[in-house]
Amino acid sequence: MQNQEVYDELIGKFQAMYGEKPQIVAYAPGRIEVLGNHTDYNEGYVFSSAIDKGTFFAVSPTADATCELTAADLMETAKFTTATCAPAKEMTWQNYVNGTFNWLFDGNPAAAPHGWKGMFLGNIPLGAGLSSSAALEMCTVLALSKLYGIEKDKTTMAKIGQKAEHTFAGCPCGLLDQASSMYGQEGALVESDFRTNVFKTVSMGPTVAFMMVKSNAKHALVDGAYASRRKACEDAAKYFAGILRKPVTHLRDVTMAEWVLYHGGLDETVAKRAVHPIGEDERVLQGAELLAKGDLKAFGALMFDSHESSRHWFENSCEELDAIVDIAKTIPEVYGARLSGGGFGGSCCLLVDPTAADKIAATITAAYKAKFGDEPVCQLIKPSQGAHIVQG
Ligand code: GLA
Repeated sequence: MQNQEVYDELIGKFQAMYGEKPQIVAYAPGRIEVLGNHTDYNEGYVFSSAIDKGTFFAVSPTADATCELTAADLMETAKFTTATCAPAKEMTWQNYVNGTFNWLFDGNPAAAPHGWKGMFLGNIPLGAGLSSSAALEMCTVLALSKLYGIEKDKTTMAKIGQKAEHTFAGCPCGLLDQASSMYGQEGALVESDFRTNVFKTVSMGPTVAFMMVKSNAKHALVDGAYASRRKACEDAAKYFAGILRKPVTHLRDVTMAEWVLYHGGLDETVAKRAVHPIGEDERVLQGAELLAKGDLKAFGALMFDSHESSRHWFENSCEELDAIVDIAKTIPEVYGARLSGGGFGGSCCLLVDPTAADKIAATITAAYKAKFGDEPVCQLIKPSQGAHIVQG
């Protein structure tokens, strides 16, 4: 479904339910992660991009403290009040919105002067690793800020969504997904530094595009694998802080040379986990230089290296994603490919020559089908504008 169709359907459903148009509508896109995997919570670097699919959130105030939230795809409605807004065990989709509302009011939503009636609808495939949850948080925070006349900068809004993930949805994510959704720009990559929280955009030429290839492997970050990777990185940072004669708070502070010299003192699994974000940071910095020179082939080679690092060290890949990358390596018009986002399923991100998109999609689909019996979904992705108010 195109964005305009999503918008029209949402407004139609809102009007049918409430007999009036919503006062405010906000939109936020999903994201692809291009280079720099699991670096965000290690205070490292990432290249990502907002995509041309996202979620709309439509909202109007209520006269009292009641709140009502409808998932327009399911037509399920959750009801609560500003005072009873809390993590839910049923209809858990509401946690992304309610957690965002909660943290917009610094954890005290009862302080909100009135309630709201909201409805959301999006076109980001769920479980694809394209950050549908961050998109929902970012359109929520934009719409509710506007509704209550609260002024927040983009980074603060991204952090509100991240807190909702941590405390309402149960995923200890970094800031990448929310920041990419907020800072995305048409035709550009977002280059993030998660120590300084400086987000730059780097234009991409028309001769290159991204293709997302969605495997059918399940992607769920709430089941503990993400949290255990994060914990291993934090344990490794503590070890390096004790052994290196310099300040170390996160793996961002550790170089590959230091890992090579000192990883023998770490538990074997923790050592394997730690080398991934350390290598990823170096690849993003190298990638920035290559992009500046317009050397897309060399940038793409770093994407392949990134995937190998996921596969061997971080072990956040899976058979399906490995197969997609292996097939992609045999296609000359694919410059680079890697898993995108948390891992353990979801999608791969390919850097491609857009004029060969059909051929690439056909080759990958045929080879994947021969191996797994079902077809992946291949889609060209246009780096797109970040979250914004659409109406109101
Ligand atoms: C998920 C998380 C992000 C980031 C990526 C991996 O998308 O939500 O914060 O850690 O995984 O880079």
